[in-house]
Amino acid sequence: MKKALIEKTFPLRDVSEESAREKNIKSGHISTLHIWWARRPLASSRATIYASLVGAGDELEEIKRREFIKKLCKWENTNDLNTISRARKDILHEHGHPPRVLDPFGGGGSIPLEALRLGCETHSMDYNPVAVLIQKCTLEYPQKYAGSGTGWSEGENRLVRDVKRWGEWVFREAAGELRRFYPADDDGSVPVAYIWARTLPCQNPSCAAEIPLMRRFWLANKRNKIALKTVIEGDRIDFEIVKDPDFDPGKGTISRAIVTCPVCGSTIKADDTRRLFQEGKSGERLIAVVTSHPDRRGKEYRLPTEDDMKIFLEAEKHLEKKREKLMDEWLIDPIPDEPIPPENRRSVNLPGYGMLKWGDLFNPRQKLSLITFIEMIRNAYEEMIREGYDEEYAKIITTYLAMILGKLADWNSALCYWRPDQERNADVFSRNAIPMVFDYGERNPLMGKLMRPETISKVLDNLSMIPEVKGHTPNVVKASATSIPYPDNYFDGIFTDPPYYDNVPYSYLSDYFYVWLKRALGDLYPELFLTSLTPKADEMVAYTHEKSKAEANQQFEDMIRKSFQEIHRVLKPGGIANIVYAHKTAAGWETVINALLESGLTVTASWPINTEMRARLMAQKSAALRSSIYIVARKPDEEKGTGFYEEVKAELKEKLHEKLESFWMEGVSGPDFFISAIGGGLEVIGGYDSILTYSGEKVTASRLLEDIRSLAADFAIKQILENGFADELSPLTRFYLFYRWNFGNNKADFDDARLLASSLGIDLQNEKDGFIRISGSKVTVLGPDERKPDKIKPKDLIDVLHLACIHWSRGETGRMESVLTESGYGSMDSFYRVAQALIESLPDCSEKKWLEGLTLNREELMRKTAETERQQKLP
Ligand SMILES: C[S@@+](CC[C@H](N)C(=O)[O-])C[C@H]1O[C@@H](n2cnc3c(N)ncnc32)[C@H](O)[C@@H]1O
Repeated sequence: MKKALIEKTFPLRDVSEESAREKNIKSGHISTLHIWWARRPLASSRATIYASLVGAGDELEEIKRREFIKKLCKWENTNDLNTISRARKDILHEHGHPPRVLDPFGGGGSIPLEALRLGCETHSMDYNPVAVLIQKCTLEYPQKYAGSGTGWSEGENRLVRDVKRWGEWVFREAAGELRRFYPADDDGSVPVAYIWARTLPCQNPSCAAEIPLMRRFWLANKRNKIALKTVIEGDRIDFEIVKDPDFDPGKGTISRAIVTCPVCGSTIKADDTRRLFQEGKSGERLIAVVTSHPDRRGKEYRLPTEDDMKIFLEAEKHLEKKREKLMDEWLIDPIPDEPIPPENRRSVNLPGYGMLKWGDLFNPRQKLSLITFIEMIRNAYEEMIREGYDEEYAKIITTYLAMILGKLADWNSALCYWRPDQERNADVFSRNAIPMVFDYGERNPLMGKLMRPETISKVLDNLSMIPEVKGHTPNVVKASATSIPYPDNYFDGIFTDPPYYDNVPYSYLSDYFYVWLKRALGDLYPELFLTSLTPKADEMVAYTHEKSKAEANQQFEDMIRKSFQEIHRVLKPGGIANIVYAHKTAAGWETVINALLESGLTVTASWPINTEMRARLMAQKSAALRSSIYIVARKPDEEKGTGFYEEVKAELKEKLHEKLESFWMEGVSGPDFFISAIGGGLEVIGGYDSILTYSGEKVTASRLLEDIRSLAADFAIKQILENGFADELSPLTRFYLFYRWNFGNNKADFDDARLLASSLGIDLQNEKDGFIRISGSKVTVLGPDERKPDKIKPKDLIDVLHLACIHWSRGETGRMESVLTESGYGSMDSFYRVAQALIESLPDCSEKKWLEGLTLNREELMRKTAETERQQKLP
């Protein structure tokens, strides 16, 4: 089988950097169309698909293509006609036709979008209807209506123009009805937001305060320092707005659901807070109004007036009337009455606070604005039909209008806290969860761009520029990857990014949008909105409600195995697959590898693409593995045959060395190196159907993985030490060195540390008396500053090093020298090499400082200890 470029080489560092950089790009990026969780960068998607669909060629060609990928993956070249045309030409030349590719877990559509950009016949799936809708808007629709399909020469195309036109229409119609509920002040200032706090009665029987629950009292704290100051009269808590406060506004009345009464100082425990909410004892209070004046810069803050509340109550009344009217028309409650499932407490903890329906997450005026915009979106569809639009086209425009609606739901609910640093609301989904928020900002949806079509027209513009793939429009299907609705041997390539255990509860999070989208688009997409909430039965997420963690993981692993078998089935013989894994632990990643091996796919390469900046990772006090591994696999087109263990081992040693060298050159380091090595080793193992010992015993995958790990550890240690001293080091010293290189001075997950140790022949459980500490699922490797000198037995190099460091730091030079002489390490070059390697692996810390001090005197110490040793040997 001819090798793809990605199976030989890949410009890892450049693509990683570009992928990390893309996270800061917002304007025109597909992530601005609608929220989806765990989106993949376009840069890494484009680069890996290209590298999988073109061959490596000869040496010169390989270098040229590697260089080209560096250009191809740049955000600036996303719609550069020359670059994209060249990529398409290369791929077409390789395959003779547009390769037919599938992403069975398409999500927000990054991967299939890049396949399309590269000229593939693109198919994509997702089990979640919201993801399917987003993908239709990303892939299918812009292609169907991208003018002549050349995009570039067209200027603004018809679809973009019509979305803008109807987006403005919807805004105008909605604003006509809603404007009176957001009236301007007498001086012409317009409210841009209202700051609310939920309230609870103080539980101290002698205090009747109604406590506004505020996490902090800051209104603005970047350029201007503006805060709310409590004014207490009897049991009543009032506020004044102060500039440059002389108190700490960072401390509010609630923290981690524990409430402190500002009147009497008594507290309400977190459990009681939740209970009081469930019992309906909570209220809401308007605390401040944020305004902006057309002639003045910046935001201004004032206390609410009676009129503000009067208007709010009018909005509430209007909502009730409107709700009844629309209920008759839509035959469904316009305010989502679908229950918030109580079972997913870890990510959606709202039922614990008495919020039982999805509609409960919005205050009445927010509900009013949402249903008004939905009404106008539905009216826009009717209006388009009246104007003679084709039904399918009108449906598509309406779908984009509903994408804009998603922004209103995300940025204007009673879960959007006020950000004093930015003087605006946060959106709901800064995390992969929907947590409770006690004080929130209510936005005026008629101010700013929130509900204007500009919020999506730039991305739609970009999408419409993608040239058509002659004879094909992308196809997006709602289905489960455990049962792919395509025939056997159908695809040239599968590029995908499956869910990872319980990392993201997609269906529960997406229900937040589903319920509103259903009201806006349900009639147009009956097939997507059949169920009351998003379907969950076949979702591939390790949910732990109703089962233990082990059972949930097992179910997830069974499903992932099934989906890999399906991928194998629908791939053509010889077809290529990229499966992305954002792993947390080495153990979890190995499960995936095993599932892959069982599916019949052969792993041919793997590349860790780091989408986080290294500096940022080092700043975090945990050493979890963070990069995403792109696993490259093939459906073998011929029988592979049996290998013999001893020969396979020799082959592993040779081939892996080459591979490891290339990872090393690309700057892959830490846990990623270790993981990538396994992928690299599988390239060799994958070449055989089974591997036997000479005596005919089958060699297990885990034994081979152990071999790969120890080869990788050996390689890395030699590289870290920069020459051949590695063989002189004990397994324990190697472990210490390797641990520091991998995890710095952070804690590591037990499984990761265990794998590391076992590759060096160490059982962690037997080493607890020295520098290794195990606590629960975490492992810590103690530095010299964390050890007591009288407890250290100076046997291993590391123990001697630690003792020497401690004496050095205390100025006990004599004791330091005797430790070095007595142990014999003081005159050994390898001792100082290890110290040097540790210095290079550690961030700034005491251990590093001490090691630096010690090695600074290296020559002197070596000379002295050698001399003492010589003297001791004299008769
Ligand atoms: C990691 S995300 C994919 C993200 C995507 N690559 C992107 O850039 O937006 C995994 C996706 O798998 C979907 N999913 C979960 N279970 C599934 C199943 N059984 N079949 C197909 N898709 C499923 C989720 O809805 C989610 O969108």
